[in-house]
Amino acid sequence: MAESSSPRGAWASKTGFVLAAAGSAVGLGNVWRFPYITGENGGGLFVMIYLVCIAVVGLPIMIGEILIGRAAQRSTVTAFKTLAGPHTPWKALGGLGVVVAYLVLSFYSVVAGWAVYYTVIAARGGLGGRSPEEIQEIFGATYTSIPLNLVWTALFMVLTVAVVWRGVRNGLERWSRILMPSLLLLLGLLLVRATAMSGFGEAFAFVFGLHADQLTGGGVIEALGHSFFTLSLGMGGLLTYGSYLEKQADIPSMSAGIAGLDTVIALLACLVIFPITFSYGLEPTQGPGLIFTSVPIAFAQMPAGGLLATAFFALLVFAALTSAISLLEVAAAYWIDERGWSRERAALASGLGVSLLAIPSALSGATELFGGRMQAAVGSNWFDLVANIASNWSLPLGGMGIALFVAWRMPDALRSVEFKSGSRWAGFYAGWLVVLRFVVPLAIAAVFLHAVGVF
Ligand code: PFF
Repeated sequence: MAESSSPRGAWASKTGFVLAAAGSAVGLGNVWRFPYITGENGGGLFVMIYLVCIAVVGLPIMIGEILIGRAAQRSTVTAFKTLAGPHTPWKALGGLGVVVAYLVLSFYSVVAGWAVYYTVIAARGGLGGRSPEEIQEIFGATYTSIPLNLVWTALFMVLTVAVVWRGVRNGLERWSRILMPSLLLLLGLLLVRATAMSGFGEAFAFVFGLHADQLTGGGVIEALGHSFFTLSLGMGGLLTYGSYLEKQADIPSMSAGIAGLDTVIALLACLVIFPITFSYGLEPTQGPGLIFTSVPIAFAQMPAGGLLATAFFALLVFAALTSAISLLEVAAAYWIDERGWSRERAALASGLGVSLLAIPSALSGATELFGGRMQAAVGSNWFDLVANIASNWSLPLGGMGIALFVAWRMPDALRSVEFKSGSRWAGFYAGWLVVLRFVVPLAIAAVFLHAVGVF
């Protein structure tokens, strides 16, 4: 974002927006979360439903969300008031987004903290020459340690606040140009290594093979929820970024590019992680530790593995940081636009709020209270509960609201100008509108009803 006298700022260029939006989308969701929920949900059919959700629900909403931001030139709550009047009930949608941003960042920062910690252990040679059992023990020890979780989560939050505080995004975007392709390159290298593993065939069939009996109960809503999570949709993040976007930029094409890149990285992560999982007899259903146990095993057996593992986790931290700042930006922009706070104050206060909320998640692996006892009471520890409420329910709900607002409430003249401006996709306007009006709300409602057992 260009530094300017207004606390809002603007993108220095169109590429600035694309890099920031792609940076927001590509993160732990692709590399950490998608593979482990694919493992938990039985593979192929889940992946298939996820891909359909991205194309049919996610992409049309993404276009809509960015479009609201650009039309209003305001961040999330203020945008709805600008477009629909100061007392509009739609502003609640923006409010929901702000709350969800805090919730998502509260567990995201814990996992990002693990990634920071792994970068440090890898750099100090702590992962080299380890057996698969030892590598699993390292994760177990990380997950259950109170000080490690608190310290590394806090460190990651300090980094995130610092970036939002200082508005040094411009620098970060320039870095994305190098670091995002580097992450892709390293995943590509791991893929080459994975294709030579004995479990590659089994892994490929797991990720892409379709068996009707694969899917477990909550799989459909998890696939839908994750399609929102991974694209950073439904809580006003892309809306806020869109508010800084110049008028001539082609929103549909940019959205398609971002969704495409995001999907490729998620699939690549699966094709790297599952061959390792199957070749070394790890549990594909083991949950959030999957990437932290599988990827180090592959690196431990490669030449210059220590260096590569360090680079991999450092790039993962960077990917997480560019996503986390988009979450903190939603919270901060609310205080700036609605309450007139300075950027510094807004960033610091929101960061502190998130850090407090992160404590129970950070302690979930270690404590009886947030782990074991809650698990016994509600079938889930705090970390999983927050992730589930935020990703599976709140983001799709927010996304449905955004679809309804764009499709039914926004004046057609404004909407069509925003969609068509500079766009090669102008001819798809009517089709997009039909999808947003009918297909998206009905699909989300159907998945919600399915999840509560109506059918
Ligand atoms: N899309 C990010 C990821 O996949 O890691 C996570 C995320 C960022 C979710 C921003 C929601 C959000 F608003």
